Amino acid sequence: MKILAVYSSKGGVGKTATSVNLAYTAVQTGQRVLLCDMDSQGAASYYYRIKPKKKFNRSRLLSGSYYQFIRGTDYPGLDLLPAHFSFRNLDIALKNGENKKNRKILYGLLKPLESEYDIIILDCPPNLTLLSENIITAADCVLTPVVPTTLSVLALSQLLKLFKKMDCGKRKILAFFSMVEGRKTMHRGVMQKYGKHPIFVKNYIPYNAEIEKMGLYRKPVGARGSSLSVGNSAYRKLWSEIQQRRLA
Ligand SMILES: Nc1ncnc2c1ncn2[C@@H]1O[C@H](COP(=O)(O)OP(=O)(O)OP(=O)(O)O)[C@@H](O)[C@H]1O
Ligand SMILES: [Mg+2]
Repeated sequence: MKILAVYSSKGGVGKTATSVNLAYTAVQTGQRVLLCDMDSQGAASYYYRIKPKKKFNRSRLLSGSYYQFIRGTDYPGLDLLPAHFSFRNLDIALKNGENKKNRKILYGLLKPLESEYDIIILDCPPNLTLLSENIITAADCVLTPVVPTTLSVLALSQLLKLFKKMDCGKRKILAFFSMVEGRKTMHRGVMQKYGKHPIFVKNYIPYNAEIEKMGLYRKPVGARGSSLSVGNSAYRKLWSEIQQRRLA
């Protein structure tokens, strides 16, 4: 079982769009996939048309009694652990003292699923907290979307600092350019300047109307229309590169 966290401290950079579409892409390649919606906003759950059961909440997650709340999606092989509103305080709940072991709580919670899934994808909320440290510790790969603008690059440098603080170097981080608009000079400039850095993968996700419309259709782009569409092809290429570099 491999854990892929789609994470950035910056909001609105395409974390959820990426998690939702990579989960679908992974299941198309025959893998057993669990998508965990870690963000109390519940956007990934929304895209897959899943609401949490009434009895589900943060305490169920943290006590490890959450398995019964994992739901099947419309796509065989792809399950989803929905978000709950109470996840907004996961940070506070995780924090009891400065013990380093607090970083390993999430990993401990996911480990028992080892024989059930080939890949777990975490759709993460935008913050830089103890939850982020748990996510980074649990993940085999932290995939971070970078919109080619200066503020997104700043978020990436903060993430690298956090990795340093946590002593995990850069070995499990991969970055990709997200929502790329090739006609914008700034996008081209930022990609030229930073794209050669070894943490960046070659493939990127373009700004694409069909991805933007996912909120209307509530389906991953590959499940709608042609599997050869620009959006779906971009996620497939990204998935293949991430697998080769970190998840093989
Ligand atoms: N490649 C893309 N092209 C066009 N629109 C996109 C693309 N990726 C994401 N979007 C749109 O941009 C908005 C933000 O994307 P998304 O929700 O995936 O970001 P996020 O990083 O998960 O945000 P948050 O930090 O709030 O969780 C959404 O409306 C989404 O539909
Ligand atoms: Mg999101």
